Amino acid sequence: MQADLFPTSSQDGEASVATQIEALRTRLNRWAHEYYVLDTPSVPDGEYDRQYQQLERLEAAHPELVTPDSPTQRVLGSVLSGLAPVRHAVPMLSIRTETDIEASGAQAFDARIRRELGLTDADPPVEYIAEPKFDGLAMNLRYEGGVLVQAATRGDGEVGEDVTHVIRTIRQIPLALRGAGVPPVIEVRGEVYMRGRDFERLNERQRESGEKLFVNPRNAAAGAVRQLDARIAARRPLSFFAYGLGELTPPEAGGPAFATHHALLCQLQAWGFPVAHEVRVVHGAAELVDYHKYMGARRDALSYGIDGVVYKVNSLALQRQLGYVTREPRWAVAHKYPPQEMVTTMDAIEVQVGRTGKLTPVARLAPVFVGGATVTNATLHNLFELRRKRVRVGDAVIVRRAGDVIPEVLGRVHEGAARQPYVPNFHMPRACPVCGSSVVREHGGTDHRCSGGLFCSAQRKQALLHFASRKAMDIDGLGEKLVDQLVDQGLIHSLPGIYALQVRQLAGLDRMAEKSAQNLCDSLEKSKRTTLARFLYALGIRNVGEATAKDLARHFGSLDALLAADVDALRQVSDVGPIVAESIHTFFAQPHNLEVVRQLQAAGVHWSEAAPAPAARQPLAGKTVVLTGTLPTLSRDEAKDLLEAAGAKVAGSVSKKTSYVVAGSEAGSKLARAQELGVTVLDEEGMRRLLAGA
Ligand code: IVH
Repeated sequence: MQADLFPTSSQDGEASVATQIEALRTRLNRWAHEYYVLDTPSVPDGEYDRQYQQLERLEAAHPELVTPDSPTQRVLGSVLSGLAPVRHAVPMLSIRTETDIEASGAQAFDARIRRELGLTDADPPVEYIAEPKFDGLAMNLRYEGGVLVQAATRGDGEVGEDVTHVIRTIRQIPLALRGAGVPPVIEVRGEVYMRGRDFERLNERQRESGEKLFVNPRNAAAGAVRQLDARIAARRPLSFFAYGLGELTPPEAGGPAFATHHALLCQLQAWGFPVAHEVRVVHGAAELVDYHKYMGARRDALSYGIDGVVYKVNSLALQRQLGYVTREPRWAVAHKYPPQEMVTTMDAIEVQVGRTGKLTPVARLAPVFVGGATVTNATLHNLFELRRKRVRVGDAVIVRRAGDVIPEVLGRVHEGAARQPYVPNFHMPRACPVCGSSVVREHGGTDHRCSGGLFCSAQRKQALLHFASRKAMDIDGLGEKLVDQLVDQGLIHSLPGIYALQVRQLAGLDRMAEKSAQNLCDSLEKSKRTTLARFLYALGIRNVGEATAKDLARHFGSLDALLAADVDALRQVSDVGPIVAESIHTFFAQPHNLEVVRQLQAAGVHWSEAAPAPAARQPLAGKTVVLTGTLPTLSRDEAKDLLEAAGAKVAGSVSKKTSYVVAGSEAGSKLARAQELGVTVLDEEGMRRLLAGA
């Protein structure tokens, strides 16, 4: 008998469609979980889409079989009139925040806990759970019979807003709890946030369609959550981390009992919620402080934003014993980091000329302490970015400084703020502010450039600083102040001029004593012995970064072989595409660049040349390795150099393509990810054996 794909009338038919729908939902939910939560999809997107459409067709033919937990119900089409208020069954409290950024905050918390619990010095350390303090929005997710029935914002802690229609679009949030032991009522609490790269992609899209840019991930997430139209929200990629509970059916009514906060998080994970890899069980004040330091160092490498860490007493019995003061639990505290974003006034916009001649508008700011340092300048990137941010001199602006990243102006504070009258619009100068050469903009590009090349003293200075930098020729003591003087006083006109400097010339300069002049000459001498990769990087060829320089050196082995290469030959190098190949070729086609190379060699710059290393001498050719944590004897750069010399590619994140993860102490999420994906994990010793070809 031919199978009837869409039976509608008979009892049997209903049953088989229902079974079919059920099977599709289970499969689609599993795939969505693998894709969005575990980051390890098991089917290609096309297959997911095909089965999703099949489910949509079946549901369209059988509307009575549509349930709220179906994957098709994640996006609701209609525009809603407003967000309805929701009274929380259990108030959503805040956490006490330690404002000081020193270790004493954690010590004071531990001391308070020990005192409240009546512990003496003879008692063992208290067990805590340390978590990131996610920088997003608190959310309460209510499940009845294991099905998501309501999602609400925190609001004032007592009454929040119903945002169920938006939360349904977040793939990381299960519409129905997975697995066994689901209680009749459970409210899961956590943070809705936007990942850094999702935020960048979103802004990229906004930029392309000429729409307003979001200032930061938190702001973009908050806007998305409060969207009335779920279709718009669905296009704003949101994520979620679970960290606690609201209402829960008590054990006597069939609910689960958890002994510790950690056990609760493990169960939430088993039910399908994302829990941050960085959550740790720790003991006593010292380990809390270690965690704060550890997360502080990892902060900029995380895929999500944090503004501190949260410490919680792990035992739920002890949490109950400690209880609450007013609206804060006694058993938890937040330990913040200095904010990475602050508001200040923009006093002026100036234009800076970079190494490649790029003109960057730079904001001069009223000094502001942000990201742990006082900032007075911040980049505005380019004219178009500046225009889109609608910032003008005199505005209150938001400045961000995170880790090693150059401080930037994100935008102005609220639209309606009073502005000074008659602020002229900013324009890029037509002539270079440093050398007067004409300023050009490549067709269709966003960058303005000074056309002066090394005639422009600003470009010369930047070229020298780059040449001397640590990953290039590594000339100790040749900093910005000195380069300014050397160029401004006409002591250096080109790169090779560096090696003609004399102690007595240097000693005459501002803030240079005989001793430091001698030290600089020594480091100049020392720098002459280098590697081909460093030399190529130091030349400052456009689009040739450290990694490309290494690839070129490894591929060609000698400078002569590289100089002889045409564009096609250059494109044979791994990761060298048409644009990079063109840059390299154009650079070496200029007689004055070849002259610079020749003069540097004549001044004594040398390296040991080799034939391109044959694959047999490269035990790790074709392998990708990820480094994480602190190794016992090697620095990160040293380990990277060793691996690359053996032919390996060193990558920043772990994926299925990773061959090995080399983990040291305090390895974090990369290690966890490697274990999850079954990637081989080595310690430093194991890495050395691998390098030796064992
Ligand atoms: S626990 C009773 N854990 O911080 C304690 N909160 O003031 C309830 N937050 O807006 C909160 N990360 O959204 C907790 N790991 C974490 C958190 C966290 C961020 C936010 C939370 C709330 C604020 C608490």
